[in-house]
Order: sequence, then C-alpha cells, then structure tokens
Amino acid sequence: MSTNGVEEVFLFDPQLLEDLPFEDQKCATYKPEIGPTRPGDGLTLRPLCVSDFDKGYLTLLTHLTKVGDISREQFEERFQAMVRTQPNLYYTVVIEDDVTHQVVGSATLVKEMHFIRQCASRGRIEDVVVNSTYQGKQLGKLLVDVLTLLSKKVGCYKVSLECLDNMVPFYSKFGYVKEEGQNYMCRRYVPK
Ligand SMILES: CC(C)(COP(=O)(O)OP(=O)(O)OC[C@H]1O[C@@H](n2cnc3c(N)ncnc32)[C@H](O)[C@@H]1OP(=O)(O)O)[C@@H](O)C(=O)NCCC(=O)NCCS
Repeated sequence: MSTNGVEEVFLFDPQLLEDLPFEDQKCATYKPEIGPTRPGDGLTLRPLCVSDFDKGYLTLLTHLTKVGDISREQFEERFQAMVRTQPNLYYTVVIEDDVTHQVVGSATLVKEMHFIRQCASRGRIEDVVVNSTYQGKQLGKLLVDVLTLLSKKVGCYKVSLECLDNMVPFYSKFGYVKEEGQNYMCRRYVPK
C-alpha cells in the first residue's frame, strides 16, 4: 500500500487479515454486519504502520495506561524490532478514520513461542481500545474477533487475555472463559 507515493511499512502482512475466515468463524453477532474488510463507513482496519505515529496511535493508547513521551525515533526503533521478529510475533491491528486520518481503535495479539507441546505457540491479546467517540459501533467486538481468529491462523494452540471483572461479559462473547483454579499473578517493578 502506498500513501502519497510513500510505501507504507506494515507490522505484519495485511493479506493475513483479508484471508481470515471471518464470515464463517466470527464469534460475536453484528448488526449491521461488519468485518475486517468493511469495518464501517469511512473506516479501514489494517495492521499498524510506522505512519500511525502521526495518526494519534500513542494518544489512543493513553486511554489504557501511561504511555510516556515517546519520540518518533523510539517509536520507529520499537516498530522495526517487532517487524524483524521471525516468525512474526507481533500483530497490532488498528482502525483508521479515513476522513480524519486518525487511529480510532486498536488491539494487539502477541504470539509467544514455547518448547512445550511440541514447540507450540500461544497467543495473548493486549491493549484493546476504542476512542470514546467511536465506542458502541461494534469496533471493539470486531478487533477482538479478528485477533482471536488471527491467533488460530498463525498457529497458536490457545489464546488468553487479562481483564477487569467488568470486562468479563464482553470477552465471554468470543468464547473466553475464566479457567477454574487458574490465577493471574503479577509482580510490579514500577508503580501502576
Ligand atoms: C471495551 C471497549 C474496547 C469496547 O469497545 P466498543 O467499540 O465500545 O464496543 P463494541 O461496540 O464493539 O461492543 C459492543 C458490545 O460489547 C458490550 N460492551 C462494551 N463495553 C463493555 C463493557 N465494558 N463491559 C461489558 N460489555 C461491554 C456492549 O454491551 C455491546 O454488546 P452487544 O453487542 O451484545 O450489544 C471500549 O469500551 C474501550 O476502549 N474501553 C476503554 C479501554 C478498555 O477498557 N479496554 C479493555 C481493556 S481489557
């Protein structure tokens, strides 16, 4: 894809999103029907690009947690480090408003490689966020549905996520369940 004659660098191959069996295997219900190739009027769903630095991507993330003062150089360095992982381990999808050219939604799938289960990989879904102006338009559902299908497509044997109690009903829509006896434990080195 080229914007103003400048070739875009995607975090991962956009074809992966186009090839998802979304219509057959989506988990949530959509009224009206939307999907990865048609997320809604004037919206585009695609992998994260370097140019999203200028499209409010980091500001969107501030709705989740502290982001800090990240320079373009730091952003590009981190982006390129993610692109270079082989096989690809980072899958951030964004939704862009084609009129304002702002990123209005995003979520990330991280693929972890292990030795267990015959060198299996597992997925983790992180940083699901939709700009408050765009909430209630099914975009959060679309992001989670897309990444859940993508986790299977890229070979994860399971996919998990962490969330607050009030988000459990949201993620239950996609087949996520609280596993009996399993606890999430965390040790922080910096304050929340
Ligand atoms: C959570 C979030 C991503 C949802 O995005 P959204 O685009 O507003 O949600 P959608 O329009 O796709 O989803 C709508 C459906 O999810 C439900 N839903 C939305 N937010 C919910 C919540 N906090 N708890 C429970 N259900 C919720 C709606 O009731 C609706 O259900 P329906 O389809 O049965 O009618 C968005 O509210 C957000 O960015 N919140 C702030 C950041 C955050 O909390 N992220 C999650 C971190 S784990």
